[in-house]
Formats: sequence, C-alpha cells, structure tokens
Amino acid sequence: MNKSSDQANRRETQTGISDRSARRLTIKILRHNPQDPASDPRFERYQLDEAPGMTLFIALNRIRDEQAPSLQFDFVCRAGICGSCGMLINGRPGLACRTLTNKLDPEITLAPLPVFKLIGDLSVDTGAWARQMGEKLETWVHQHKEPDIDRLEERMEPERAEEIHELDRCIECGCCIAACGTARMRKDFVGAAGINKLSRFRLDPRDERSDEDFYELIGNDDGVFGCMALLGCNDVCPKELPLQTQLAFMRRKMAKFG
Ligand code: SF4
Ligand code: SF4
Ligand code: FES
Repeated sequence: MNKSSDQANRRETQTGISDRSARRLTIKILRHNPQDPASDPRFERYQLDEAPGMTLFIALNRIRDEQAPSLQFDFVCRAGICGSCGMLINGRPGLACRTLTNKLDPEITLAPLPVFKLIGDLSVDTGAWARQMGEKLETWVHQHKEPDIDRLEERMEPERAEEIHELDRCIECGCCIAACGTARMRKDFVGAAGINKLSRFRLDPRDERSDEDFYELIGNDDGVFGCMALLGCNDVCPKELPLQTQLAFMRRKMAKFG
C-alpha cells in the first residue's frame, strides 16, 4: 500500500468520510401518498453525486431540493436522538441520519418502515404507535400514595440510576418493531420497545407495581409470550439497547405467574 492510499484509509477510519466520494448514487425510493386515491405505490429512481461524509439525510434533502419537491420523510435532530428518521435501508430498518452512503453500494433502496401507519413516501406515524403502547403499558411511575410535592426527593443509588438510564435510551424510532415478525402479525404486540420500557419501570424503586401487576400488562401473547425470540429487534436497534437480555429476563419473570 502506498503512502497516500494508506493516509486516505486512515482518514476514512477516523472520520467515516470516504475518498470514494466521486461515486454516482442511484437511490430508489418507494413513493406513495395514501391520501391521494390516484396514487399507486411505485419505486422512483433518483441519481446524485456522492459527497464526502454524505448521510442518507443529506442525500434525501438534496433529492427533495433538486428533483422531487413533494418527497415526504421525517427528520428533526440529524443526530440519532429524536428517532424520526427510521426507514428501510436496503430492506433493513435503520436511521437515515446515522447512515453514511459510503457504507452502502451505489444503488440504494429506501422504503417506509412497515407496521406503522404510512403518512406518505418514507414518513410513518411512529408517534401514534408509541402513544398507544405507552397508554397500554402505563409507562409512568405508579405509587399508591398521593405524591407530596413539598417533600425532598428520595435518593436513588447511582448504580440503579445508571441501570435505568441505560434502558431509557430508547428513542422510539420503531426499528425494532419493523424488524419484528410478531409485530407484523399481531397489531397489538407491544414489541421489544414496549417490554424494554416496562423493564425500565420495574427497575425504578419509585414504581410500586409488583411483578403480578406487570404480568397483567405483558403476561400474554401481545406481550412476552408472543415473542418468537428470533431477535431481529436486537440486531437492528440503533441505540444498541440490551433487548435480548430484557426480553429473556421479563419472560422468565412473567413465566412464574403463567
Ligand atoms: S428499542 Fe431500539 S430500535 Fe426499538 S424503538 Fe427503542 S431505540 Fe428504536
Ligand atoms: S425477539 Fe421478540 S420482540 Fe424481538 S423481533 Fe423477535 S419476536 Fe419481535
Ligand atoms: S433525525 Fe433524529 S434520529 Fe435521525
């Protein structure tokens, strides 16, 4: 390897920016407007030159600015935090803002996440799903007594706070649901995101619910017993949450009441 290609490779490793930036990309996008009775789902192809450090977020913005003003897709943070930009990238759920085009072949296929209500093109309503899941699983701290707002907050052990924080990193992007065979078959399945969320409240010392109470919520086929344990969710979670561990743990806990 000569010195300059060695330097280029090092630069790519350090920054994720490739010197293969002169590639011509073809991006095939599944387009459909469900509000328009005349709209049929179809793939449309767009071509653009790859730029250094280009993400799918940047590519989609360029396509919308230069070629397809009506293209619908969601972004807020551009930093893997808001969970808005989940989509199928070459058939695999992922975040468009965290996906560098130089990690993909020059022909890229994008489609909306399945399972969720389609708003249009690549935009789906994960918010409605998350709201419904939160209400169903009552994802808030439950206490038997009325809270006393004048009392000092109780201390929590830092180790416990960290365990809770780890599970709280879910950004509700919907990737685990889109990758889940059970979620595709059972519309009320709470999925790995839901089970992870309840694990988080089970860890919280302020939540006074018992395992029996949690069993009432997820001890059924829409909860832990509907999970086929093939772990597509675990493979695609962009936040690398320990979904496999949480699913196995909650199933073992709930099985005691079954
Ligand atoms: S568990 Fe992971 S994949 Fe699922 S919604 Fe949360 S962040 Fe997204
Ligand atoms: S392991 Fe369970 S929750 Fe995860 S994708 Fe498979 S069926 Fe869905
Ligand atoms: S735009 Fe917020 S996660 Fe991608």
